[in-house]
Amino acid sequence: MDEKIFNLDLQQLKDIVLDFRKKLENGLEKDNTEIACLPTFIQPKKGKVNGKSVVLDLGGTNYRVATVDINENGAVIHPENGWKKDLSVMKSPGFSEDDLFKEMADPIYETKRDGEMPIGYCFSYPAESLKDGDAKLLRWTKGVNINEMVDKPVGKPLLDYLNKGTEPKFSNIKIINDTVASLFAGLTKPGYDTYIGLIVGTGTNLAAMMRPDKIKKLKPSDEVDMNALIPINLESGNFFPPHLINIDNIVDEHSDKKGAQRFEKAVSGMYLGEILKASFPLNKFEDKFDAQKLTSMMSYPDVYKEEYVRVARQIYHRSAALVAASLAGLISVLHDHDNSIRKIMLTAEGSLFWSSDKNGPDYKELVTEKLATLLKELGLGDIQVDVNQMPNANLIGTAIAALS
Ligand code: BGC
Repeated sequence: MDEKIFNLDLQQLKDIVLDFRKKLENGLEKDNTEIACLPTFIQPKKGKVNGKSVVLDLGGTNYRVATVDINENGAVIHPENGWKKDLSVMKSPGFSEDDLFKEMADPIYETKRDGEMPIGYCFSYPAESLKDGDAKLLRWTKGVNINEMVDKPVGKPLLDYLNKGTEPKFSNIKIINDTVASLFAGLTKPGYDTYIGLIVGTGTNLAAMMRPDKIKKLKPSDEVDMNALIPINLESGNFFPPHLINIDNIVDEHSDKKGAQRFEKAVSGMYLGEILKASFPLNKFEDKFDAQKLTSMMSYPDVYKEEYVRVARQIYHRSAALVAASLAGLISVLHDHDNSIRKIMLTAEGSLFWSSDKNGPDYKELVTEKLATLLKELGLGDIQVDVNQMPNANLIGTAIAALS
């Protein structure tokens, strides 16, 4: 097969940037749009946050629990990288809310707590932030489908469930998206004009701080402080970019939610293997073929068919170019909102973003190079974007939310 079909030239990437821009602006104006732009009604406390919280992190397949103690010297996480549990079982048919709470509760009950503590819950699915710090689940992504939880608060039922079975009780629960958690973690590094959170792992998404006067869909009843920036969870995984190809349609056709998350299905770790499989429809591949498998093909090519390796690398490169285009679109909107923006801190999480190719440029390099080219094309070449890798960014950002 001709792997060049995955190539996106500069003009095509510019089309994608402009389309992203347009849809992002639409999301700031109206509800229920392709790029949802969900405001988060949790603003990180000004000045230093201090205190202990229990942090839960429910991502694509993994679940983590940790106690996080934030003090003058930084964050102390216990155990060091959180207590990890594989929760891919939540994707199985018939898995219920009660099953989920049970799975989540066990390690939480194991945490050592010397008094009442709040919970920060990093919930990596589209959810509408509520004024009390909870959030309402809009829909599932990444192959999860626990239907009875949709349209209901994510935090309160879990808090009630946990408090029935433990002492000391938990005082409160705050829900934030993983992109917003990354962004919050980045805020601990001062000196930047603005901050962005990016995830490229099992799924993909972006978050940024925005001026409330630019978020036209805010209502007086939202009671936001008009002088503070609002964290926006873009839900950019649902962007349907131009210049996807027939193979993307096939992947979508066979996926759990047809038509949704088209950008995510061309970019993120859960789907890159599916794109490779769909590129060779007559050949046999193993069932579990994720991005890790794809990158190991590129790094250890001798044991794979040469054709597979070439196509795998093109799929990887296209994913990075698409992420760069979405970032360029977001940055151009942020710059329109505030012309003085010159230095941006981008805190990135996700195994695909930090993956490497032993025989070519790493993913992060591919993204930053393409982003620099696109910003220059947009006349924004003087904007500096620093990519920040912060160990446990999600846990730290979520702890900041719990204590804010
Ligand atoms: C979800 C987002 C999340 C992203 C990265 C997507 O599938 O819709 O809420 O931020 O995955 O985890």
